[in-house]
Amino acid sequence: MTTRTATKTNSKAETSVATVKPGATTPFATRNDIDASHRGQLVAILNQILADLSDLHSQTKFAHWNVKGPNFIALHKLFDELAGELAEHVDDVAERVTALGGVAHGTVRQAASVSRLPEFPAHTFHGLDVVAALADRFAAVGKTVRAAIDATDKLGDAGSADLFTGISRDLDKALYFLEAHLQG
Ligand SMILES: [Fe+2]
Repeated sequence: MTTRTATKTNSKAETSVATVKPGATTPFATRNDIDASHRGQLVAILNQILADLSDLHSQTKFAHWNVKGPNFIALHKLFDELAGELAEHVDDVAERVTALGGVAHGTVRQAASVSRLPEFPAHTFHGLDVVAALADRFAAVGKTVRAAIDATDKLGDAGSADLFTGISRDLDKALYFLEAHLQG
């Protein structure tokens, strides 16, 4: 197997290329000029949010499949729309990990092993109970994504901060859509 590493393109560029280290947080060399000493932390933050979002996505699909009650069809469709947005966010966060030289830990097992969300509550199928359980989880992930905006900004990664800002805004809107069912 040939390993192709980024090389200096001119004498002025400070593109010190990281050695490929199996198991390292950022094992892949990149020409990306974000401080290499920060990329490990950035990848760790991104992978944590990737796990949380993946878990939230699977739980939202669980709700889509299993919700019951008089508002079934409306909730069934709403949950699928929210899950669709989450799937896009999962993909964007995973690809930000790889853009920074990391490995996106996004399999179901990897996500489940580090997700900070509790499992979807057992025996919860009635429409508003399902909405409340999802609202709890969207709020929890929204809080951690908001914290990730500041954390990545402080590490000099405006790109990840911007990505998280967009996700945060979508999570806030999703929470509003869910909570509107509980506030009437
Ligand atoms: Fe479906």
